[in-house]
Amino acid sequence: MRFKYVCSDCGKEYITDEIMYQCPECSKLNDGISFPKGNLIVKLDKEVLKKAKEKDHVTPNDFYPYPSDDEEAYPIGVTPLMAPRRLQEETGVKNLYFKLDSQLISGSFKDRASYEVALQAKAMGEKKIALASTGNAGAAMSAVGAAMGLDIILFVPASAPINKLMQSVLYGAKVIPVKGTYDDAFKLSIEYTRLHGGINRNTAYNPMTIEGKKSISIELFEQMGRKAPDAVYVPVGDGCIIAGVAKGFSDLLEAGLIDKMPRMICCQSTKSAAISNAIDNNDYSEFNATTRADSISVGLPANGRMAAGYVKESKGWTVRVSDEEILDSQIDLTSKAGVLSEPAAACAWAAFKKDKDHFVSELGEDAVAVVLLTGSGFKDMKAFDGRVKMPDAIENSVEEVKKLNF
Ligand SMILES: Cc1ncc(COP(=O)(O)O)c(C=O)c1O
Repeated sequence: MRFKYVCSDCGKEYITDEIMYQCPECSKLNDGISFPKGNLIVKLDKEVLKKAKEKDHVTPNDFYPYPSDDEEAYPIGVTPLMAPRRLQEETGVKNLYFKLDSQLISGSFKDRASYEVALQAKAMGEKKIALASTGNAGAAMSAVGAAMGLDIILFVPASAPINKLMQSVLYGAKVIPVKGTYDDAFKLSIEYTRLHGGINRNTAYNPMTIEGKKSISIELFEQMGRKAPDAVYVPVGDGCIIAGVAKGFSDLLEAGLIDKMPRMICCQSTKSAAISNAIDNNDYSEFNATTRADSISVGLPANGRMAAGYVKESKGWTVRVSDEEILDSQIDLTSKAGVLSEPAAACAWAAFKKDKDHFVSELGEDAVAVVLLTGSGFKDMKAFDGRVKMPDAIENSVEEVKKLNF
């Protein structure tokens, strides 16, 4: 056995076969009003970490609880690490990088979690996976399911961007749009697995989602010349991505491959700032989330407690940005870096821009910042409505070309 589970709230340890979702003791206390308790963290065996330490080059597979024996079947990364020269110049931060997870197969970061859950299903001989999603996790799980021959049952808010829903339908998932919020879809999907069986992939509810997401940190470590960056700016909704990034670095630290954790920077919209409130004010209550950045619009974050804990432990901080700043940042990214991002991803860039002076004052002008651009703008072109205008067509004549003054 390569791992055991530890409850992130009470610290109780569980061996692998005993349970697979939440700490039975702590989850009993969940009241649906404050952030849920009882999420599990995977603790890898010392032997696994020792083996990784001895390698000249590590890959996520060295750190997965359920490693793959066929990585070509659905390749995860390595996604590009981009040095956005014009934006480095504009911000004055010369070691600013973008990690382009929109380049994963389904177009978002969520492939990382879905892949590890698919490997868990394979190892456990399960064929069915149910989940709730704001859109991207569903598309990712459906894509992995199509490639690996799994049945995917997906609960999504009916209001999710149509392109994300269409993706899942095209990949062959059974899509169930819910007349309700993401939080409602979350509860229904758990009821589904309780009633009909299969594995539940809900973000953070299944600890393998965090284990899959940590793959980005293992990639970054190698891409940066076997070093960790000084800070990672992460767009945050449920808090599973930021916890996954932190867990990846924490595994590298435990293996002795790095000697310090990067600062985890929690980037949120002012209209969906539950986890920021927990970090800054110890407020773990529900937030009335209304941001246009649909992927990070979460009232009661499924992994809020663990995410807040990791940010504080890393001596990181929060940055809240308005929806206007997020949408402006989308245009910034396309016009000055050539990167088309969905609003949630652009939130991380909006946050970095707002925070850049503070970043330099905390960590110095040579510090390395990585901004995670987690999802592709192609999935939600409606987000640009009213902000860009398609030029009128010209007549098919050379006279018209002569009139152009640029
Ligand atoms: C593109 C994108 N960015 C960021 C997030 C936020 O991740 P988390 O909910 O784990 O905080 C999501 C979640 O759906 C997402 O799809």
